[in-house]
Amino acid sequence: MKKTVKIAIDGPSGAGKSTIAKRLAAELGFVYLDTGAMYRAIALKADGAGLKPAESPELDVLLRNTEISIKYADGAMRIFLDGADVSEKIREHYVSKLASDFSALKSVRLTLVDMQRKLAGKHDTILDGRDIGTFVLPDADFKFYLTASAEVRAMRRCLELKARGQECEYDRILDDIVRRDLQDMNREFAPLKKAPDALEIDSTEMTVDEVVAGMLSVIRGNN
Ligand code: DC
Repeated sequence: MKKTVKIAIDGPSGAGKSTIAKRLAAELGFVYLDTGAMYRAIALKADGAGLKPAESPELDVLLRNTEISIKYADGAMRIFLDGADVSEKIREHYVSKLASDFSALKSVRLTLVDMQRKLAGKHDTILDGRDIGTFVLPDADFKFYLTASAEVRAMRRCLELKARGQECEYDRILDDIVRRDLQDMNREFAPLKKAPDALEIDSTEMTVDEVVAGMLSVIRGNN
């Protein structure tokens, strides 16, 4: 079987990973996999079933009986939970915290990591997440760690919400971002951290175009 090319983009919430990963995938003709969407989908189902974010036999049963599938339409990734398209639902604010809570559980991670590795083995893929370069694909061909100050990340999230006609409470968003960073960085199993061989890009003062151009030059070998 032909070896596929794998690109890992990790980093904290709101650093722009998915925007950048989508752009790179379109430029390179790769498949894009938003692994956070998978954690969000599982969290949505587990919470809906009344489960608390803790290991339990009920959670194991739920994980064994959950089908997550990914489809692509016009370059955008759609995620299906047991056959239903939950791409919009998983973006609701309350799901962010739930996803961070459930993603700390080893059983949840091992289930999703297995799917992520299988998908990345089939196509040239760009994956964005928290542990791609450190745990999911330690042998990825290119690894990036994308950061930005918490204040800038909160401001960008606010602008996104406003663009969608929604309310933005900057202080609450900033507070959520800082809490989620701490929780994702301090969990025991596969926490958010920069892989030693990842290239760190601080996008605090960079535009999306600049970040994409920088990554492309590394990938194409003209840096
Ligand atoms: O990227 P996101 O905000 O959609 O991710 C939601 C949560 O899922 C995030 O707080 C941590 C978790 N996550 C993870 O633990 N590992 C990943 N590879 C991707 C996301």
